[in-house]
Amino acid sequence: MASQVDSLYFFLIALTAFFALLIFGLIVYFSIRYRRRGPGDRPAPVATNLKLELTWTIIPFLITMVLFSWSAKLFIQMSHVPAGALRINVVGKQWMWKIQHTDGQREINELHVPLGRPIELMMTSQDVIHSFFIPAFRIKQDVLPGSYSVLSFTPTKAGEYHLFCAEYCGNQHSGMIGKVVVMEPNEYQAWLGGNVPDEPPALAGERLFNQYGCMACHGQQGPTMDGLYESQVPLHDGTVVTADDQYLRESILDPAAKIVRGFTPLMPSFRGQLTEEQVMHLIAYIKSMQNTTSVEESR
Ligand code: CUA
Repeated sequence: MASQVDSLYFFLIALTAFFALLIFGLIVYFSIRYRRRGPGDRPAPVATNLKLELTWTIIPFLITMVLFSWSAKLFIQMSHVPAGALRINVVGKQWMWKIQHTDGQREINELHVPLGRPIELMMTSQDVIHSFFIPAFRIKQDVLPGSYSVLSFTPTKAGEYHLFCAEYCGNQHSGMIGKVVVMEPNEYQAWLGGNVPDEPPALAGERLFNQYGCMACHGQQGPTMDGLYESQVPLHDGTVVTADDQYLRESILDPAAKIVRGFTPLMPSFRGQLTEEQVMHLIAYIKSMQNTTSVEESR
């Protein structure tokens, strides 16, 4: 996206420069052309000039509409996550970025990604508002407590890039920096293989699922998790929601918020019992339960 964002930016600079020069030029020209020539010099009264007023209304309107549609198009393009994107979990906390890859690999203040592969960052904060900013990629996204935000990009050039927190988040905000390392796909595989990975999120989620006895209800008095992820869920109030990450997170921490049609609100809240990472693990496990495919098979 970087070159496209730059094009828009340079267009804005050129537009601003053009009007700045035009206005300053006219100020100088008018102050000479219409200067006061004698003590009794009075200008002729000016009546309304409709043509002039329409011109300076319609032209700026058209220019701003060009800027609006151009930037809206870019914004929509940036928000779109390509199919087959590599999902990576990000948790912001005072004052570090905690990152976990799908195979369990963890890193802090570093993000290793393979070249050419679309990446989807699923991000949340466990304390205050942070902002995930990679200037070289021209992308920035607020990371909020109590909610997921998504940032997507496709790295096009190998190398190391700055990673910043771009939201003042406390007295060590300026130290909340890191780097993004874009590697050739084979180097990335070697990097993944060269470290002893932690437990993959889906497996950690399965362990939590058993540990908290979730299967005692889910599939019986409670709705089944099988094939739930990204499916359409009918609610008791007649509406339908998509079972995305946001919905699943809410249903774990605030189960009464959206009751599935035909079920009663029996589930206790797990707020305060699970860390944001554990919630992400549970969601990864639920995501792995697609049409009776077990975690082992889907890996
Ligand atoms: Cu986190 Cu600033």
